[in-house]
Amino acid sequence: MVEWRAMRPIRVRFDSAALRHNLSVAKRRAPQSRVWAVVKANAYGHGLARAARAFAPAEGLALIELEAALELRRSGERRPILLLQGFFSAEELEPIAAHGLTTVVHDPEQLAMLENFKLSTKIPAYLKLNTGMNRLGFSEDGFRDALERLKRCAGEITLMTHFADADGKRGVQWQSKRFKAMTEGVKLSRSLANSAAILRYPEAHTDWVRPGIMLYGCSPFADEGAAKLGLKPAMTLSSELIVVRNLRKGDSVGYGCTFIAAEPMRIGIVACGYADGYPRHAPIGTASFSLSLPKTDCQTNPSWRYTRTCAVRSGSGPPEGDWPNTWTGRFTRLQLPTGWPTIRSSLSAAIRSALYGSARTTDCPSFPAGSSAHTTRRTVSVRTMCARLS
Ligand SMILES: Cc1ncc(COP(=O)(O)O)c(C=O)c1O
Repeated sequence: MVEWRAMRPIRVRFDSAALRHNLSVAKRRAPQSRVWAVVKANAYGHGLARAARAFAPAEGLALIELEAALELRRSGERRPILLLQGFFSAEELEPIAAHGLTTVVHDPEQLAMLENFKLSTKIPAYLKLNTGMNRLGFSEDGFRDALERLKRCAGEITLMTHFADADGKRGVQWQSKRFKAMTEGVKLSRSLANSAAILRYPEAHTDWVRPGIMLYGCSPFADEGAAKLGLKPAMTLSSELIVVRNLRKGDSVGYGCTFIAAEPMRIGIVACGYADGYPRHAPIGTASFSLSLPKTDCQTNPSWRYTRTCAVRSGSGPPEGDWPNTWTGRFTRLQLPTGWPTIRSSLSAAIRSALYGSARTTDCPSFPAGSSAHTTRRTVSVRTMCARLS
C-alpha cells in the first residue's frame, strides 16, 4: 500500500494488492486468453509504474501514449506494449520499431504512413475493425484490402475490434457476428473483449483480452456491483469535514445556490472541490452515499469516535441499495432507506444513524472533532460535499 499525503486533509490512496487481485480476476475469467492490461492515462490515474508492477502477470500492457510506452521501456519493461490508437504521425514509427512496440492500425491514413516509411524491422500490428462502435477501425468495405496491404508492410498481425455495449442491453453478439463475417477464413489471432465482455461473454474471449476498468476495481455494469464481481477498489480518495455551520431555513449552500435549507440545519463541509476532480456541474441528488464503518468497531463500539468514514460514489445506481463500485471488504455498509431525496439528506441520515444508532433522530450536540468523510472513485458526482449533521 502506497500513500501520498498532502497538507490538506484530502488524500488519495492506491492499493497495489487490489490491482494485482483484479488482474487475477480477469485471468480467472478468461483462462484461455492472454491479457493486455490497459494502463492508458497513467493507468487511469493510478500511476503507470505502480500499475505495470502490479500487473506483472499480464502478458502485455496496452495504452495510448507513445511517451508512456517509451517510459515503460526505459524502466526496463520487456513485455509487449500495444498502442491502442496506433501512431498519430509518421515520425512515431521509428521509435515504435526501435522499442519493439505493437501498433494498432485503424484507418487508411495510418496504413499509408506505414507503407511509405522505410523501417529496418517490421512493426507488429493490430488491425482494427469497426463492427459497430463507429469510432475507430476499418469497415467491411475497406478491411480486406487493408489486410492485404498490411501483410506486406507490418510484422505479425492480429485482428481486433472493440465492443460498444458489452456492459449494456445490446451485449456483444451483434458485433461478434459482424466481426466473424468480416474475418471469415482469415487465420490470424484475435482480440475482442474489454472488461464487460471478459466478465459476461466468455464466447468473446479469443486469443487476447483487454481489461481496463475492472483492473481498477470498478464494475463496468450499472446492475452488478464490483464486490459481487469479486473486484477490489484500487484507489480511495478521502477527506475530512473541515467546517460545521448552522443554516437557517432558506439559506443556500455553495455555487449556484442550488441547495436551499428547507429548515434550520447544521451542515458539515468536506475538503474536496472540483479542482480535486469533483464534477462542478453535477446536479444535486446524482450521487449516492453510504456510511461505512470498520466492522469490528461497529460491532464493539457504535460511538462516534469509531464511526468516521463514509463512502461516496457516482450516482447511476439505486440510492439505497447495492451500489456498484463502493468499497468492498474492509467496511460494513449501512443501508440507507429507500427514496432519500438528496445526497445531503442521505449523508445526514447516514451520519446521524452512525452517531446515535439508526432509531435515534435527535440533533447531535456538536460534530465530533476528528471526524472524516471518505470518498472512493475518481468520479464523485456532487458539486459541494456537505453533510447535514442535525
Ligand atoms: C481498444 C480498447 N480496448 C480495451 C479497453 C478497456 O476497456 P474497459 O475499460 O471497458 O475494460 C479500452 C478502453 O477504453 C480500449 O479503448
